[in-house]
Amino acid sequence: MNKKVVAFGASNSSRSINKKLVTYASGLLNETEVEILDLNDYELPLFSVDREDEMGQPKLAQAFLKKITDCDGIIISFAEHNGSYSIAYKNLYDWVSRIRPKVYQDQPMVLLSTSPGGRGGQSVLELALSQIPRFGGQVKASVSVPSFGENFDLEAGVIVNDDIASQLREAVNNLFK
Ligand SMILES: Cc1cc2nc3c(=O)[nH]c(=O)nc-3n(C[C@H](O)[C@H](O)[C@H](O)COP(=O)(O)O)c2cc1C
Repeated sequence: MNKKVVAFGASNSSRSINKKLVTYASGLLNETEVEILDLNDYELPLFSVDREDEMGQPKLAQAFLKKITDCDGIIISFAEHNGSYSIAYKNLYDWVSRIRPKVYQDQPMVLLSTSPGGRGGQSVLELALSQIPRFGGQVKASVSVPSFGENFDLEAGVIVNDDIASQLREAVNNLFK
């Protein structure tokens, strides 16, 4: 049976470049079923312990956690907001972590990032690389893609820089190694 991969851009932008990147990168996997999640489908109120007292474990947080549980591997591309995670990702993560602290459940993961600028979201990628192993993710590879607008053809939905394309291919092919 084919492996199942869950992939998402860690952003709530309807035109997220990280969603575009992760969609392209996960499409490089052979014989793999890929489900692309959209964080807008899991939007929750801003986490607070008071709201948690009112709401308990929200259904959307449970549904997101089930996606993580039910797959064989995960690919995330992180949007960088002021050197850190987007609030959309962090807020969902905080809710989900209250159900299961090791959110990523020993799943193999590939971590990506991109931004319009030359650093390609390296700060948020470094943050994710330092944190995710402590929260149950087995990170198999990571790539940051600089200057997204120059390296990605929006109409074709593909990376046009050969070197970056091969880095991404190698990274996703490490997911199940
Ligand atoms: C509030 C905010 C903060 C940002 N901070 C950074 C930053 O620290 N580094 C960076 O490279 N880009 C930063 N950007 C630009 C984002 O990289 C850019 O908006 C990118 O499209 C975000 O990814 P997304 O399209 O997947 O949401 C910021 C954008 C916003 C809206």
